[in-house]
Formats: sequence, structure tokens, C-alpha cells
Amino acid sequence: MKLLEERILADGNVLSPAILKVDSFINHQVDPSFMHQLGADIANHFRGRGITKVMTIESSGIAPAVFVAMELGVPLVILKKQSSAVLKTDVIQTEVVSFTKEIHYQLTLARKYLSEDDHVLLIDDFLANGEAATGAIRLIRKANATIAGLGILIEKSFQPGRAKLNEQGIHVYSLARIADMDTDHITFIPEEA
Ligand code: G4P
Repeated sequence: MKLLEERILADGNVLSPAILKVDSFINHQVDPSFMHQLGADIANHFRGRGITKVMTIESSGIAPAVFVAMELGVPLVILKKQSSAVLKTDVIQTEVVSFTKEIHYQLTLARKYLSEDDHVLLIDDFLANGEAATGAIRLIRKANATIAGLGILIEKSFQPGRAKLNEQGIHVYSLARIADMDTDHITFIPEEA
């Protein structure tokens, strides 16, 4: 999506060859009308595929996921990473390891928000190693629900996330795909015609 690529070039900062900072418009301060356009593009890509729920992982996936869910007219379910006293019973959990942040966490979902009748579209801001998305997919499968695909704002295509998900039969749609980056350049994979 040209619009997102241009905004990344204008306002993104490459901190190291692996980390892109986009906190002025994506994941710290959010530009809501811009985020709405991104969410609408993902919703249009997946429209008509029988999606009953949009799902994301707290916290940075929430902003785009709200707009995708609003456009598709379905509920948004937010997977929790923080433990909570009110979310202890009748939950589905799986452990996720974040290589970027070097932490482990229990991804948690109240069982009542997902059933075998659900067809889920998963949304996140970044796709890097694919561990967060793989954990979310494990949870969806534990609930016997099905997966329509994964919608991503920024994919770092030089990391293994997309390949890992494709191996599991998951369709990945990313608005911007970074082939390569460093402090002086960002190169995108051209959009498919
Ligand atoms: P994965 O998400 O593909 O599994 O990869 P990994 O475990 O390595 O990364 C996990 C976290 O790091 C995610 O945030 C993801 O958004 C963030 N991240 C990965 N690459 C980048 C990057 O280049 N720039 C920025 N700004 N963030 C990156 P999270 O743990 O889910 O936390 P949250 O920010 O959503 O709360």
C-alpha cells in the first residue's frame, strides 16, 4: 500500500537493521484517520470470506484491529498478555516467546469469546518472527474455531514470520513489506499487481 510506504519513509526511523520506529503514527501516538484507511484496506481484502470475529494481541494491534472490525461489522477480541485476577477461570492459554523483546508471556483468552462457529481474522501491527501470530493461531485452534488469515500493517520480510505462517497454511496480507532496511534506507517489496 503506497500510502503506508510513503508514511514510513516520511515519519519512520530505522533504529538498527532490525528495528523500525513508527511511534509517531502507529503504536505510541496514533493518527486515527490514517489508521482508519489502513484498517479499511485490510477489511476490503478479507471482505466476503465469512469472518465472524477480528482478533488481535494487546497492545499495538488494537488500533488497526478496531478499524478492521468496524469496517467488517463484527466484534473485536483482544488476546491478553498480562495476567489478571478476573481472567483466571475458563480460559484458553498458550505460551509465547518474543525474540525482539526477549520475554515470555501467557497469551490468554476467555473461552466464551470464541467458539467452533467462529471464523477469525487476526490483525497485528508488525510481523517479525511470527511467534505472536503463531501463539494466537494455537489459541484459535484450541477453541476449534477457524482462521481466515492474518492482516498486518508492517511486515519485515527479511525475518521469518511470513514463511512460518505460510507453512501452517495461513494466508498473510501485509500493507507494507520491508525487504531490507538500515539507518540510511528502507526498501519495500513491490505490491503484487
Ligand atoms: P512477532 O511479533 O512476529 O512474533 O515477533 P517478535 O516476537 O520478535 O516481536 C514481538 C514484539 O516486538 C511485538 O510487539 C512487535 O510489534 C514488536 N516489534 C517487532 N519488530 C518491531 C519493529 O521493527 N519495530 C517496532 N516498533 N516493534 C517491533 P508486542 O510484544 O506484541 O508488544 P506491543 O507493542 O504490541 O504491546
